[in-house]
This record gives sequence, structure tokens and C-alpha cells, in this order.
Amino acid sequence: MVNYKELGLVNTRDMFQRAINGGYAIPAFNFNNMEQLQAIVKASSDLKSPVILQVSKGARNYANQTLLRYMAEGAVAYAKELGCAHPEIVLHLDHGDSFELCKSCVDMGFSSVMIDGSALPFNENAALTKKVVEYAHKYDVTVEGELGVLAGVEDEVKAEHHTYTNPEEVIEFAKRTGCDSLAISIGTSHGAYKFKPEQCTRNAEGRLVPPPLAFNVLDAVMEKLPGFPIVLHGSSSVPQEYVDMINKYGGKMPDAIGIPEDQLRKAAKSAVCKINIDSDSRLAFTAAVRKVFVEKPGEFDPRKYCGPARDEMEKMYKHKILEVLGSDNKLANL
Ligand code: G3H
Ligand code: 13P
Ligand code: ZN
Repeated sequence: MVNYKELGLVNTRDMFQRAINGGYAIPAFNFNNMEQLQAIVKASSDLKSPVILQVSKGARNYANQTLLRYMAEGAVAYAKELGCAHPEIVLHLDHGDSFELCKSCVDMGFSSVMIDGSALPFNENAALTKKVVEYAHKYDVTVEGELGVLAGVEDEVKAEHHTYTNPEEVIEFAKRTGCDSLAISIGTSHGAYKFKPEQCTRNAEGRLVPPPLAFNVLDAVMEKLPGFPIVLHGSSSVPQEYVDMINKYGGKMPDAIGIPEDQLRKAAKSAVCKINIDSDSRLAFTAAVRKVFVEKPGEFDPRKYCGPARDEMEKMYKHKILEVLGSDNKLANL
């Protein structure tokens, strides 16, 4: 059993309250490899932003759970080396799907876990979330629950099958479970194809223009749970410059589209205090690697293409912190 405090990590409690009060959101960036972690830590340290390092079940399987945990411990030391005397870094389990997985993460030093029971009926979701909360809170680990279902490209769900969070259920859920934050569904979804062309209009350049997020649902949730930390998943913007680069250098991503950044900025100013971004990092990485492969076909040193990919991700993370989340210079001890 390792407690996250021994690793220099923090939980989400204080940073979420400060974010709500201050009208900004904390970045939650997924990582699966060293270059992503380096870019996240460099961007957040340079800009003095608190940051949530997210590890999915898939990331644990890909990179090895133990290695990822030590990498997060290394992230704290690296942030200090970069001149950030008091970094606020959370190690968070993204989309935990069982009590056992959440417990294993708590036991190995995670400071925050998500239990995603959103596909379950309300009572089962609440019972599972409560069980995780009871265990995690013994170790001061914070817990994110989820109500409402995000459409996702992986399950071929049409957007009309989004189940927006029912604001009538949130008080009961928060009260019954004791969770520390709540992910809600207001029209975001995972991946790089968040909307089908038939749900969108097109602008003069022929690019898809997605339907707006359901801010009325967010407003209703905030009215029911004033001051309660809200989380948005599926919040990549799918920057068209990366889609264009990928397509230019041999990729094929027609009509990839995300959530416009101005809508996320608006959400960040509300009780939304955690915004999840993974796909934009994948796009930045892939675009940069494809460019090197096409322009320097003789290159075979991974540092020569992973290095530019890392630089591109750092640029993207900094842009998110500055222009979308507003979390720069928000460390408790600057
Ligand atoms: O919400 C999903 C995250 O983007 C993680 O994706 O399960 O492929 O690691 P993954
Ligand atoms: P994106 O696919 O939009 O980056 O969402 C990531 C996410 O929600 C991770 O939990
Ligand atoms: Zn998610």
C-alpha cells in the first residue's frame, strides 16, 4: 500500500474549489508514454498550472500500471527541476469500471479515481460509486462519479442517443454516493469524430460546424448543486490544423471534428472545474510524426520523430491552459 502523499501528489479537493471560485478549470490530460508525460509536465510547470494526469484502463494495460505510477512520481520531481517549487499534480484513474480497479489504484498511490457507472441503472451506479467513495475516502483519495451517457465513436452511437444528464437526479446521486465531483453529459463525446456530418452544418470552407453544447442542462445541474465540482469528458477540440497535417502527410481523417474552444472556455468559467483532453494530444503526436516520416523518409531514430511530436504536444497543452482552461498561474504556492 502506497499513499499518494508519499509520492508528492495531491488530490483534487482544494484545486477544484479554487477553480470554481476563480472561474477556470483544471486540465485533465491522459498519458500513455514518456513523451506525453514530459510535454504535460513541461507545459503545466512553465505556466504554473495545477494538472491532472489521467491514466485509463487501456493506458495501464499498454504501459504497465507500475511503470505509470513511478512515472507520475517522477513527474513531481521533474516539475520541481523545471523550477516549480510547489507543483500540484494529481494522478487520476480515468473511467474506472469496477470497484477492484479503483481499489488497486488507490492502493498503489493514485490520488483520485473515477468510477464510471454511467451505463448502469441509477441505483446500481449510485451503489457502486458509494462503495468506491467509502474505500477511497479512507485514504483521502477523491472520487469522480458520472451521470448521463456520452456518445462515442467507438460504439457507433448516434448523437440523438446521447443521454444528457437528468438534472433531477444529481442531488440524489451526490447525496447518496458522497462523490467529490460529477461528470455530466451535455453533448460532448470521446474521440476525434464527435459529430456525424448529418448533425452539423458546414461553413464557407466546407468544414463541419457542430451543434452547440447543452448549456441549459449544465445550468440546471448547477442550480441543483450550487458550488459542486462538475467534470466534462470528451472535450478535445480536434484542431483542424492537425487534421489537415495528418491528411496532407498520408493520413485519412475526413470530417474529424470536436468541441469548439469558445464553448469549452465558457464552460470553464462555470462550475465545470475539470476538462478532459486526450484526442487532441493523439492528433498533435500523429501529425508531427507523419510530417517527419514524409519529409525525412530515411529517418529511423525514434527521437527524431518523437521529439517533434513532444514539442507539438507541449505547444497544444500550453494553448489549452492559456486559452481554454485559464489555469495558468493558479498554483496555491506560486
Ligand atoms: O475516455 C477515454 C480516454 O480518451 C482514454 O482512452 O481508453 O483508449 O486509453 P483509452
Ligand atoms: P477526448 O477524446 O475528447 O480527448 O476526451 C478524453 C476524455 O474524456 C478522457 O476521459
Ligand atoms: Zn472520458
